[in-house]
Amino acid sequence: MAEIVIVPDAAAGGAIVADEIARLIRGNPAAVLGLATGSTPLPVYDALPARLSGVDLSRVRGFALDEYVGIDPSHPESYRSVIAREVVQPLGLDPARIRVPDGSLEGIEHAGDDYERAIGEAGGVDLQILGIGTDGHIGFNEPGSSFASLTRVKTLTEQTRQDNARFFDSIDDVPRHCITQGLGTILRARHLVLLAFGAGKAAAVASAVEGPLTASLPGSAIQLHPHATVVIDEAAASDL
Ligand code: GLP
Repeated sequence: MAEIVIVPDAAAGGAIVADEIARLIRGNPAAVLGLATGSTPLPVYDALPARLSGVDLSRVRGFALDEYVGIDPSHPESYRSVIAREVVQPLGLDPARIRVPDGSLEGIEHAGDDYERAIGEAGGVDLQILGIGTDGHIGFNEPGSSFASLTRVKTLTEQTRQDNARFFDSIDDVPRHCITQGLGTILRARHLVLLAFGAGKAAAVASAVEGPLTASLPGSAIQLHPHATVVIDEAAASDL
């Protein structure tokens, strides 16, 4: 059973998770962070610089959960750009130590295996930040994703494309494919921290925390993890 932490608002949730990350890095300057995109983790990233000022971050590594396929890496909404803007630059991390799955079409057939190997060579992820989609997806593991899945190319659902259209000029600009860590990849991280805020996430949170355990509800995979923490506000907790 995941540990549930109910917070007054997203800023408070971000502060709690940032405290945990700062504690991790102070104890292990070579910590490996699992980074998520979307709007949910932004309060965590906003809270981190103040907690890590003066701390040597030169050995910290990071692995993003996912990326769009076929998007120009320099597009402001590519997850490479988002992670650079929200995490790498504000914290002054070494960009060479922060990886995002390679969504370029050239070499896409081995990009998943390459990413799995890189995570393995880094010794695995210590703390994985997770958001959750309204349909219960984590990373871009849409309903139907195997609990044993590894990093691979997937097709985005129409719901997810609509949800993410707000980041693009129009829904036609939202990519149709992605490369995402699998549920099996995510479950290997040593600590999962899932955040969700707002009533729109209540059903997805309930499915993740209370199940049933099924590939139709990808977030329910976190119930298989021995150390999962769920940080939510009252609204996101309202279906529990
Ligand atoms: C995207 C990301 C997920 C994220 C989800 C929720 O599809 N790939 O990692 O958790 O959307 O996004 P948001 O936090 O903006 O609600």
